[in-house]
Amino acid sequence: MNTFQADSQQLILALSKGRIFEDTLPLLEAAGITVSENPETSRKLILPTNDPNVRVLIVRATDVPTYVQHGAADFGVAGKDVLLEHGGEGLYQPIDLHIAECRMSVAVRNGFDYETAVRQGARLRVATKFVETARAHFAKKGVHVDLIKLYGSMELAPLVGLSDAIVDVVSTGNTLRANDLKEVEAIMDISSRLIVNQAALKMKRERLQPILEAFERASKK
Ligand code: ADP
Ligand code: PRP
Ligand code: MG
Repeated sequence: MNTFQADSQQLILALSKGRIFEDTLPLLEAAGITVSENPETSRKLILPTNDPNVRVLIVRATDVPTYVQHGAADFGVAGKDVLLEHGGEGLYQPIDLHIAECRMSVAVRNGFDYETAVRQGARLRVATKFVETARAHFAKKGVHVDLIKLYGSMELAPLVGLSDAIVDVVSTGNTLRANDLKEVEAIMDISSRLIVNQAALKMKRERLQPILEAFERASKK
């Protein structure tokens, strides 16, 4: 049989390629786990580790909570931005790993007077991948918005007249600057969290606990 299923012996960790995978590697090392292949060069989506009972699934960042919620992975690492959009159902979120740190912000074109538009009660067109977070933010401010769902390159939307504003994650601000945009409101700080399937936490607690403790120790700043 070629099918792959999480069983009671195996621990399955869901990670996304790029910054989350790279920043999780040192935490795994602290738990004595070394991933044997590099997802940037390998086409494999299930990566073995030095521990025959631990394997890593490589999935899209926004899919990590889904794999863990349904128990296809026992645990995973996901940004707070992604978890807020997902809703967190079926997930235990025990540890802030302090990795992939950034903030969720509102940004507009350099020439756009955001404060006046808000004060005058203008209806704003907001392009974002983070519709739930954006909806909650503008509802709390009492600002009427038309949300335009995008899947990436949000910075482009105000430049071509698709939207007045964007809601996106900002770290250095380089992407905004490179595209003649300015940050006008910080919505919240973002970092990545360890998430655990609630059933796995009960059924596999003995196997999971030492790893969770090692992650917690290694992630303390
Ligand atoms: P995606 O392909 O979905 O954009 P990323 O690897 O870029 O995936 O992002 C994964 C997580 O890292 C995001 O959910 C967010 O929490 C965080 N993040 C995104 N962009 C940045 C950034 N520029 N700097 C630091 N953290 C970031
Ligand atoms: C993220 C985010 C912003 C940028 C912000 O993009 O969507 O575009 O980082 O970071 P900065 O403030 O340091 O410029 P990412 O690098 O993840 O590219 P992608 O998601 O479009 O692949
Ligand atoms: Mg990204």
